[in-house]
This record gives sequence, C-alpha cells and structure tokens, in this order.
Amino acid sequence: MGKLDHKVAVVTGGAKGLGQAMAVAFAKEGATVIAADMGELTYTEKNVFGYNLNVTDVAGVQAFYDAVIAKYGKVDILVNNAGITKDSMTRKMTDEQWDAVINVNLKGVFNMTRLFGPLMEVNGYGSIINISSVVGVFGNIGQANYAATKAGVIGLTMTWAKEFARKGANVRVNAIAPGYIMTDILKTIPQELLDEFAKLTMLKRLGQPEEIASVALFLASDDASYITGQTINANGGMRL
Ligand SMILES: NC(=O)c1ccc[n+]([C@@H]2O[C@H](COP(=O)([O-])OP(=O)(O)OC[C@H]3O[C@@H](n4cnc5c(N)ncnc54)[C@H](O)[C@@H]3O)[C@@H](O)[C@H]2O)c1
Repeated sequence: MGKLDHKVAVVTGGAKGLGQAMAVAFAKEGATVIAADMGELTYTEKNVFGYNLNVTDVAGVQAFYDAVIAKYGKVDILVNNAGITKDSMTRKMTDEQWDAVINVNLKGVFNMTRLFGPLMEVNGYGSIINISSVVGVFGNIGQANYAATKAGVIGLTMTWAKEFARKGANVRVNAIAPGYIMTDILKTIPQELLDEFAKLTMLKRLGQPEEIASVALFLASDDASYITGQTINANGGMRL
C-alpha cells in the first residue's frame, strides 16, 4: 500500500530539481504523476510522465487541463513548483526582469490553480501545494521580484484554502517555503555566498531536494488531513 495509491498528481517544473524529487517521491508512493515543464524530463521514473507546458501560456494551460482530464478523469494533487529567478538590485531591475518572474512564479500559479482548484472542489477532494521560499518569508537583497512572488503565493495559499473548501469539499491548500536547496536554480549564486547562507541555518548546511519532497509527500497525503492554509518552513532553521 502506497500513501498515494490511485492518486493523480500534476507537478509543474517537474523536469528536474525540486519538481523531480517530488514527482519521484509521489510515484514511489503509488501516484500517477504528470511532470509539466518547459524542458524535457532529465530522468526516468515509473509512472512519471512528462508534458511540455509553459505555465505562463494561458491557452497552453487550458489545453493541458483538457488533455489531463480526458486521459485520467481527475487530478488529486497539484504542486505549483515551476519557478525562476532574475536577480538584480531594485534600482537596476528592468521591466523584463520584473515581469518575467511575476509571470512564471505568480501568474503561472494562478493560471494552473484557477482550473485545477475548482475541479478539485467539484470532485470533493484535493491537495494543492504551492512552492514559496524563505525569500518570500524574510525578503532578500537583490530579489525584489522573486520575494514579491514568493510572498504572493503565501497569500494565494490562504485564500484558496478558504475558497475551495467553502462548500465543504475536502480540498486542502498549503505552501512549502524551502530554504536554499541544492538545485540548478542556485547555479548563479557564488559558492562564498552559498557558504554564508549555510551558516545562517541552525543546521549549518544547505538542503537536498529530497528534504523538500518528503514535506510535499506529507502534505499531499492523507497524513496531513487536518492541515490547510499553512506554510511549512523547510529551511534548516534559517533566518535571512
Ligand atoms: N532550490 C532552492 O534553493 C529553492 C528555494 C526556495 C524555493 N525554490 C523554488 O522551488 C521551485 C523549484 O526550483 P528548483 O530549485 O527545482 O529550480 P530548477 O531551476 O532546478 O527547476 C525549475 C524547473 O521549472 C521549470 N520551469 C521554469 N519556468 C517554467 C515555466 N514557465 N513553465 C513550466 N516550467 C517552467 C524549469 O524548466 C525547471 O525544470 C521554484 O519555484 C523555486 O523558486 C527553490
């Protein structure tokens, strides 16, 4: 018996990094997982299926939704994980940098959830997990655009937890705010700075993708049946 037997999960940005770790963890517990990403899957795992999707493309998201429902008939778990950074000090930040990050990290989450959330409400069951960040909780120098989106998804999380359950459906909506986790998104950050970030955690180290996937698995499963509207900080005890 897996914790997610017979469940259908969608993980955006599921081609690598945190999305990969979550997709694999869900599949190992019995879920069928659709890893929706602009890029090709960088791995193979039984019952994880790639789908080419840009979450900023409204028509593409609708076509994805239609295709998933035609094939599987339902979605039980949605992880809004696709995200990007385009860092710059605020005085130098371009419109392009601001808009790109808002479009993927915030509008992309909205594009997905306005379709899958109401579906879960009608089906009476679902778990939505939004991937925020320690940067959305504390703010960070050079990341005004990113911090705005990651704080924004915490607001969306609390809103959707109320909206989709208001008629009594068992739909839970939570966020995970990871600290610094070793994936490609950290590639542009110099090692000295990563070492400084590690020192800012109580555990004195950065995290691994599997340490976020285990939290996502908990929230996705019925183990978290009375948890909704929450943000789980998985950051090794970091303060920024
Ligand atoms: N790694 C960290 O330290 C960390 C910390 C906090 C939060 N996060 C968040 O976790 C999420 C995953 O990050 P990661 O570290 O795995 O990064 P990553 O760069 O390794 O993976 C991100 C994935 O998202 C996909 N993606 C980007 N834009 C997309 C779009 N428009 N449509 C569909 N897919 C798109 C990419 O192709 C990629 O596969 C992001 O939302 C990120 O902000 C990461």
